[in-house]
Amino acid sequence: CPKGCVGKIFCLFRFHMANTILIGMQWGDEGKGKIIDVLTANADIVVRSQGGNNAGHTVIHRGAKYVLHLIPSGILRHRKVCVIGNGVVIDPVALVAEIDGLRQLRVNIGKNLLISDCAHLVLPYHRMLDEQRELRRGRIGTTKRGIGPAYGDKAARTGLRMSDLMQPIVFSKKLQAKISENNRILQALGAKSISFRDVNEIYLAAGEKLRPYVTNTVMYLHRAMDRGKQILFEGAQGTFLDIDHGTYPYVTSSNTTAGGACTGTGVPPHRMDRVVGVMKAYSTRVGDGALPTEDAQLAQMLHNLGREFGATTGRKRRCGWFDAVAARYAGMINGIDEIAITNLDGLDQVDPIRVCVGYQLHGKRLDVPPCDATQLANCEPIYEELAGWNRSIHAARKFSQLPTAARKYVRYISELAGAKLSMVSVGPARGETIML
Ligand code: GDP
Ligand code: IMO
Ligand code: MG
Repeated sequence: CPKGCVGKIFCLFRFHMANTILIGMQWGDEGKGKIIDVLTANADIVVRSQGGNNAGHTVIHRGAKYVLHLIPSGILRHRKVCVIGNGVVIDPVALVAEIDGLRQLRVNIGKNLLISDCAHLVLPYHRMLDEQRELRRGRIGTTKRGIGPAYGDKAARTGLRMSDLMQPIVFSKKLQAKISENNRILQALGAKSISFRDVNEIYLAAGEKLRPYVTNTVMYLHRAMDRGKQILFEGAQGTFLDIDHGTYPYVTSSNTTAGGACTGTGVPPHRMDRVVGVMKAYSTRVGDGALPTEDAQLAQMLHNLGREFGATTGRKRRCGWFDAVAARYAGMINGIDEIAITNLDGLDQVDPIRVCVGYQLHGKRLDVPPCDATQLANCEPIYEELAGWNRSIHAARKFSQLPTAARKYVRYISELAGAKLSMVSVGPARGETIML
């Protein structure tokens, strides 16, 4: 920072244009929504760059609970602009419902929301194909929101975009062709076919409601940066759900890692200043695929506390010990500068606490997660044990107020992950956060 302020994100002079990418370092649901809500205080714009309404980001503020699916979590703060970037796949009907739901909770949505005209649409046949695939062997355990088929159409260059929806005649023509093609596939799968007239009517109505927000968000973001505005890039899902770097095929269909923030918004890499990684103090995963440190007893304890139920589908999340092999890899491929650890209070009554520091596969030690899903599923974790703290940390607001064992634990896991610890979260609400 030209002013010599060391804390770029929290620069007192708001001088440094700290464009910050926030990334989940595990399998999603790390508490990104909560950390975004905290960091938004120092940002002007919050952008989603990938994923769709498979995401569920929880923010607790003044006792009310908000779960954001498509709209960036920054919407809850006054005078912040929220952008849904070109890399997001949008179900327009779900987005209208989300806007209406937030308005009912007295959240202001108007000029503070922008939607990319290049974002692809999720259509009913995407959802139905997703559901059909989930009925078969080799299912992924998806959220059934049509995300995979929508990104599939995008990659195949046969998708419909927000800009199509803004031109009713063009949209209807393209939709008719897509529905007749997909009805043949759905029929072959033994599923119900879709009525063009119904979908056309519902989607055009949703499109009209979204019209005021649709724009060229790439130009908006560049102009804003030129005026010195600070952008926070809100990652959805997590590193190991990334289509390239995750535990394929048990992944989502977008780049959830740091590079996705550039491609999904049109902001180039050299304008990114910081990458903040969010990780839970333990591991969770919802859906199928390997979770090397999975532990049924830990899961039961957390579920009994009413924790770790999916924010989008309500499914029970699978739980396991902190996996430093995965976290270190996430640190490396995302270029994590700073770490926010969440849900530390979830371990309040756990003693000893296990940390996975390596994997064992066929008698060999691995320090990097294998790319192959079967190999990963066969990896046995190598654990170290740390002492627990056996008391509630919920009220701690300073690092020094945490018990020694808790301080030791967070320092150790961030060291293993290879980045500086900058935040510790001890509860779901905005204030329940320790800044280092
Ligand atoms: P996201 O998808 O990464 O935004 O995470 P989710 O919202 O799906 O899941 C995280 C859950 O943990 C939510 O219920 C949050 O309210 C909650 N949460 C986040 N941080 C903390 C924390 O430090 N302590 C507790 N008790 N809950 C937290
Ligand atoms: P947030 O942003 C946790 C998982 C699904 C499934 C896989 C593929 O709240 O962290 P999809 O519907 O994307 O085709 O499902 O990815 N998944 C998530 N898990 N948090 C999420 O989002 C997720 N979004 C998708 O459970 O295993
Ligand atoms: Mg979530």
